[in-house]
Amino acid sequence: MATQSAASKTFEATQFKPTPNNLDAFFMPFTSNKAFKANPRLFVKAEGMHYTTIEGRKVLDASAGLWCMNCGHGRKEISEAVARQIQEMDYAPPFNMGHPASFELASRVAALLPAGLDHVFFTNSGSESVDTALKIALAYHRAKGNGTRQKLIGRERGYHGVGFGGISVGGMVNNRKWFGNSLAGVDHLPHTYNVKEMAYSKGQPTWGAHLAEDLERLVALHDASNIACVIVEPVACSTGVLVPPQNYLQKLREICTKHGILLIFDEVITGFGRLGASFATEYFGVKPDLITCAKGLTNGSIPMGAVVVTKEIYDTFLDSAAENAIELFHGYTYSAHPVACAAGLAALDIYKNDGLFDRVKDLSPYWENAIHSLKGTRHVVDLRNLGLIGAVELEPRAGKPGARGQEAFIKCYEAGVLTRVTGDTLAMSPPFIVEKSQIDQMVSTLHEVLTKID
Ligand SMILES: Cc1ncc(COP(=O)(O)O)c(C=O)c1O
Repeated sequence: MATQSAASKTFEATQFKPTPNNLDAFFMPFTSNKAFKANPRLFVKAEGMHYTTIEGRKVLDASAGLWCMNCGHGRKEISEAVARQIQEMDYAPPFNMGHPASFELASRVAALLPAGLDHVFFTNSGSESVDTALKIALAYHRAKGNGTRQKLIGRERGYHGVGFGGISVGGMVNNRKWFGNSLAGVDHLPHTYNVKEMAYSKGQPTWGAHLAEDLERLVALHDASNIACVIVEPVACSTGVLVPPQNYLQKLREICTKHGILLIFDEVITGFGRLGASFATEYFGVKPDLITCAKGLTNGSIPMGAVVVTKEIYDTFLDSAAENAIELFHGYTYSAHPVACAAGLAALDIYKNDGLFDRVKDLSPYWENAIHSLKGTRHVVDLRNLGLIGAVELEPRAGKPGARGQEAFIKCYEAGVLTRVTGDTLAMSPPFIVEKSQIDQMVSTLHEVLTKID
């Protein structure tokens, strides 16, 4: 069978001398295994703004890996800190024991957030952060004597990772429809995208704040006494970059406060500078009760995530538990892994020493103009941007949604630019060290590719 032989394709060593790869065994995540193994794309090296492919070709990283390489690739400060830590102490159990770097990292993360968001629980990924935050929300209400507050509210088109909690509150249908009845008791707000009202908005659309009021409908339907939390991405990235309408997040905050509902910002992408502020909470001036983060926490180098909670939530757990009792029955073998903590501390140093959040702020207007310069390019029906995030929405091919987006993604890669594709939306969100000339290269490559493909 054609697919079979392609799938067991063996690579000749190139200048990088990789070991021969039989591609069969690895069941790849969020990938067409068949298509990939017939036409593989392998990276073997990364430095600064570039990957190098197995054939020795340089590819400009317009997607910061998977929205995580905020400081760029190959940062020696991180690899050296990681090497030092793994030699000094490779692992320490996080239950009933501790190690100094975890406390330091928690304090440093909390220091990046508004006062009151003071306590940090460590996980190993964005998905784990989301499920942790949802569990904390449920347990918090129970500890307060409000155990009926069990419903979780997400939003259509939301992406909150792939745990059962995350896909329950998430709103991307392919991530949910295969997984049966185990989804938690949830409801969803409407997503905020309306192409007629907001196409080609620069930054936050002016239309759409009223969509937050749908939360009042859900409160009327379920009653506030049954609702634990609302979780949203401040900017919904994985679904194709949906920038929140002006005043939308403020309204959500007001309604949550009015009804005693916890508000969770999923900042797995927006955390650590991507909008030109430390977190989206600072950028929008809206303070949630919990924040999830991951990715940029270690500059993508070692898996790690975190959930930050308010003092009120933390104190509730501590005050309601008996002396010597565990306050939260939750945690991972690798929570606050010492090597991840070392990577995290080194990444936070880079953000500070290199002034990278300010760099994003300074580059944002240039980025916005560059993204919007694609207006009028063949197939383009909308362009969106905020901070160092941009999206190019393509008209889908008739009867073949996603086909044009996927082809554009592959052609951009072949032309030397790595983007991120979701359906027919190409997203770009580079490391913060990006130069203006590299932004120009991203946009001109996209323009060329879109001009050529059907
Ligand atoms: C907003 C958001 N939440 C959660 C996740 C899941 O993170 P992970 O893939 O590390 O589990 C992602 C990943 O892109 C994300 O963008």
